[in-house]
Amino acid sequence: MEAAFWHERWAKHEIGFHMPRAHAALKDHWSTLALAPGARVFVPLAGKSLDLVALAALGHEVVGVELSAVAVREFHEEHPQLRGVDLRCADFFALQPESLGPIAAIFDRASLVALPPAMRRDYVKKMIELSAPRTVTLLVSMEYDQREMRGPPHAVLPEEIHALYGATHEIVELGTYGALDDFPRMAARGVTTLGERVYRLRRR
Ligand SMILES: C[S@@+](CC[C@H](N)C(=O)[O-])C[C@H]1O[C@@H](n2cnc3c(N)ncnc32)[C@H](O)[C@@H]1O
Repeated sequence: MEAAFWHERWAKHEIGFHMPRAHAALKDHWSTLALAPGARVFVPLAGKSLDLVALAALGHEVVGVELSAVAVREFHEEHPQLRGVDLRCADFFALQPESLGPIAAIFDRASLVALPPAMRRDYVKKMIELSAPRTVTLLVSMEYDQREMRGPPHAVLPEEIHALYGATHEIVELGTYGALDDFPRMAARGVTTLGERVYRLRRR
């Protein structure tokens, strides 16, 4: 059912989550991950995000995973000459560590928050299976009053981030952004205040 929802979004091109630029957190906070040049970066639930392009431009070897063949096709059509991005059409939950290969870092923007509460524990469990100790994640979460709108995107508040990742990761909050201007459809659905909170997670 969850997969059907996303396939329908892409078929109807209802992709309000797709931004015309890379997320500001990459410019503001990515360098704090202190990665080696060329480090391999994983982007889960990648869509056709320009974050993939920005990470490749930083010199990373980027692996993205996206359920929708429409998204993957459009990404390749929109970036025909791009090197350094391996965007795979696959189910994140079916990924095996051997097929993903070793990764140094993860960029999660609109991935965890795309999932309903019941799937988030499995998402984190899978992430742990796919990554080694010391892997760092830059995570952008969303916060709004969920009485105003039913997700996705869902609000995932700091206490849930700590409940999900606290046992296995060091968690550092890096900053927040006001985001309502970027999501006019959420505003139209009644959301009055929307924030994004950025975290750095380091697996112990
Ligand atoms: C909210 S969008 C975010 C996309 C991207 N991170 C961005 O910032 O534009 C969530 C994406 O995850 C994809 N998706 C949902 N479930 C997935 C799964 N199990 N495996 C891989 N991709 C999935 C959807 O098709 C959709 O493109």
